Amino acid sequence: METIDWKSLPFGYIKTNYNIRCYYKDGKWSEPEINDSETINIHMAATCLHYGQEAFEGLKAFMGVDGKVRIFRFEENAKRLQNSAHGIMMAEVPTELFKEAIVKAVNLNKEFIPPYGMGGSLYIRPLLFGSGPKVGVSPSDEYMFLVFVTPVGAYFKEGFKPVKVQTFSDIDRAAPLGTGSIKVGGNYAASLRALGRAHDEGFSTALFLDAKEKKYIDEAGPANFFAIKNNTYITPKSTSILPSITNMSLCTLAEDMGLKVERRPIPFDELGSFEEVGACGTAAVISPICQITDRDTGKTFSYCQAGNAGPISTMLYNRLRAIQLGEEPDKFGWNIIVS
Ligand code: PLP
Ligand code: COI
Repeated sequence: METIDWKSLPFGYIKTNYNIRCYYKDGKWSEPEINDSETINIHMAATCLHYGQEAFEGLKAFMGVDGKVRIFRFEENAKRLQNSAHGIMMAEVPTELFKEAIVKAVNLNKEFIPPYGMGGSLYIRPLLFGSGPKVGVSPSDEYMFLVFVTPVGAYFKEGFKPVKVQTFSDIDRAAPLGTGSIKVGGNYAASLRALGRAHDEGFSTALFLDAKEKKYIDEAGPANFFAIKNNTYITPKSTSILPSITNMSLCTLAEDMGLKVERRPIPFDELGSFEEVGACGTAAVISPICQITDRDTGKTFSYCQAGNAGPISTMLYNRLRAIQLGEEPDKFGWNIIVS
């Protein structure tokens, strides 16, 4: 194992020792298998390659203050992967098998879990795809479920420092009745051009508007959107955004902290009235947003005094991290502790 600089981990791929693989054939799943190869061998006519039968998940394991390893809300990821599978007609991975595979992947790669206090975590990437051949457009008869892990730091290089994001009206990520609410690779392919352009033009990420009317905020490329005003946590309700487990957790924490929570369409024109805004997700955790610029009109909204996150975003971030790191009682039962 090459030495890892835990303090400056990027959000990227670092080779670990093992990954876990399960195969679906003849209507049933195989037992999880331990593999030490970074590559897979699949049929050239596999449906994942031609017809996009692919979905993934992202969750994290943390080294706690007490030396115990915690995985955050895996049941929700298992459920979402089942929804994704259902959405594009893939075999569903049962929750028990999902759990067995992720726990094995974490346990077999323990030395890659960033030590407590370094700010990093072990990112768990479950992957499900059609591996059997088809040439006509139809679902595969065979599937592969794979879990790899890799140590990561902050998704945006700014960490918990506020970022700038860009809105625009010429690229859609997902259609209102399409696949935006499930975690399939095609959504990310559709977002790449907007993300690349946003980066090139000096922004951390792209913030998509609703595809139909271009009037409402949908979500950022890799994360949900939230805003704070009048002691209320407000987050978009839309059929084309991913139901974020982080966002769901922040809603619970916000209510617990005495805030009101609203899930509703957020008109672009409301951006000017917010006190704090941010992006949230497993990878992003909370990324406070200091500026939203609309590419079409140049209109810019600014948040965050002196380049710092707002007080409510900061409190939410601290509480979420404290629960994940075992610094605060897990009163909602979100973590499992792995041996
Ligand atoms: N939205 C998109 C498009 C994402 O890729 C992610 C990341 O998984 C999220 C939102 C956040 O979801 P979660 O909090 O479950 O990671
Ligand atoms: C996550 O937050 O886990 C994501 O999947 C976002 C991105 C890395 C695709």
